[in-house]
Amino acid sequence: MNYIVAPSILAADFGQLNNEVDMINRSEADWLHIDIMDGHFVPTISFGPDVVRAVAKKASKPLDVHLMVSDPDKFIQPFADMGAICITVHWEACTHLQRTLSLIRSLGIKAGVAINPHNPVSLFEDILEEADLFLIMSVNPGFGGQKFIYRSISKIKKLRHMLDEVNSDALIEVDGGVGLQNAEKILQAGARVLVAGSSVFTSEDPIQTIHRMKSISFDTYI
Ligand code: DX5
Ligand code: ZN
Repeated sequence: MNYIVAPSILAADFGQLNNEVDMINRSEADWLHIDIMDGHFVPTISFGPDVVRAVAKKASKPLDVHLMVSDPDKFIQPFADMGAICITVHWEACTHLQRTLSLIRSLGIKAGVAINPHNPVSLFEDILEEADLFLIMSVNPGFGGQKFIYRSISKIKKLRHMLDEVNSDALIEVDGGVGLQNAEKILQAGARVLVAGSSVFTSEDPIQTIHRMKSISFDTYI
């Protein structure tokens, strides 16, 4: 079954960014996940538009931009201009979420919405048709290398049922603590985009890890 693997550049060696992007280009990865953190919505700062512009120039894979920022609207146009295939904002950061999602869609790209681990998927109930991608955070956002919160599996299943009920083919993305040890269960539950940071970049052979992550066979969700 078709699914997307999106390595997260947050876990790359920033001193070797060109080589790291080149490695992703040569791999079977589908998207390149870009984590933007503002030191306000999340405790730390990652990188800003200028760094992403440099990455975008080198990257041959579409950019999957994850905005962990308090005021995402002002970043939407700049990242869309850099070639994002999808821009995801946080439910917790958007006062006018429906407006923000339609702004993203109006730029001809996928509109994504994320929820933090403590939030239920029922928060998506009234925007099921307004987004193209739903991101379930399986760690508290802000840092790579954290442990996968197992409860996320039942959230994925529940959300997949909610989307099926409205005949939506929106993608479910899972981000945080994803690796070869849990990818099959995540896919089985109904997710179709796997974000993987440290499990890819700290592995001995990242290209091989991505290959293995792309070669998982699984049954459809139960
Ligand atoms: C966490 C970020 C993730 C992060 C994942 O706040 O949104 O995209 O890079 O890193 P790992 O895969 O190491 O948990
Ligand atoms: Zn992310």
